[in-house]
Amino acid sequence: MKVTVVGAGNVGATCANVLATREVCNEVVLLDIKEGFAEGKALDIWETSPINLYDTRTVGSTNDYTKTAGSDVVVITSGLPRKPGMSRDDLIATNAGIVKSVTAQIMVHSPDAILVIVSNPLDVMTYCAYLTAGVDSTKVIGMAGILDTARYRSFLAEELNVSPKDIQAVLMGGHGDTMVPLPRYTTVGGIPVTEMIADDKLEAIVNRTKKGGGEIVNLLGTSAWYAPGAAAAQMVEAIVKDQRRVFPACVWMQGEYGISDMYLGVPVILGKNGVEKVIELDLNEGEKAMLADSEKAVREVKAILDGMNA
Ligand code: NAI
Ligand code: 2OP
Repeated sequence: MKVTVVGAGNVGATCANVLATREVCNEVVLLDIKEGFAEGKALDIWETSPINLYDTRTVGSTNDYTKTAGSDVVVITSGLPRKPGMSRDDLIATNAGIVKSVTAQIMVHSPDAILVIVSNPLDVMTYCAYLTAGVDSTKVIGMAGILDTARYRSFLAEELNVSPKDIQAVLMGGHGDTMVPLPRYTTVGGIPVTEMIADDKLEAIVNRTKKGGGEIVNLLGTSAWYAPGAAAAQMVEAIVKDQRRVFPACVWMQGEYGISDMYLGVPVILGKNGVEKVIELDLNEGEKAMLADSEKAVREVKAILDGMNA
């Protein structure tokens, strides 16, 4: 199995490192537009193989897409990250150009690849890649839900002083401050989280989760990479190993939850075909209203991209 990661920056290099260390595939190609950058990152990762005891080969490429040929999965992380004071949506014009050109070149050499998009604004960049790729929507998927639920789960684990492994959660909507963590579908070792934590503390954690990306941007001056890189690698692993994992992911909506013709985060089953199934939960009125708000926010950004393409 061969995986390409486009963008050898913070998120891309982290993702490649996780893929290699966990031996998710035989070969990882890292590609970047900056001369020598991907080669340097790939070599540095490869030099950890005798220490971390794995044999996945990592190969770097400066914009030479022939090296990506025949990839089974391609992760697209190329694009600008947020700086303090910026929203993810401020990145749209630059990143849409990058995502479009990268997707077109990838498809020439790996027409059967499943694409995992990471670049922001996530929901609309995934849509942008889908429009460019011209493949079935089940093969173009955005990464956000695993990251956002990981933040939510890690905050809950800290508050409850339990292992994060035992916290299961679902989160829906766009990758922005309108995302919808779902306490009603959150459990701690199978116990509903609402039986373990006071309402005000849970509400504070939900609000912290919604602003989790911004919290890191304010601390670091750029956006996160360890958790995003690991989250993208987890999606790749589910696809490459046909694990049929149940994750929230950004997918093309075709009437599910009454939403159509846009990319949005919902729980799905991920396997060798990409999106194997969208899982439809029976949301209550409050949850439906929050999802509708999130849908509206993403549609506004989508309209900007549609305007650019018109
Ligand atoms: P970074 O600046 O560290 O890396 C981006 C890399 O893309 C750079 O090395 C740059 O040279 C490369 N690049 C730019 N144009 C390119 C092109 N045409 N072809 C190939 N490579 C190109 O940024 P970072 O922190 O890795 O973030 C990458 C993207 O991921 C950003 O848009 C960021 O907002 C997004 N992101 C999304 C998350 C999510 O949950 N979906 C989480 C974290 C970041
Ligand atoms: C994050 O959530 C900025 O999307 C990026 O960390």
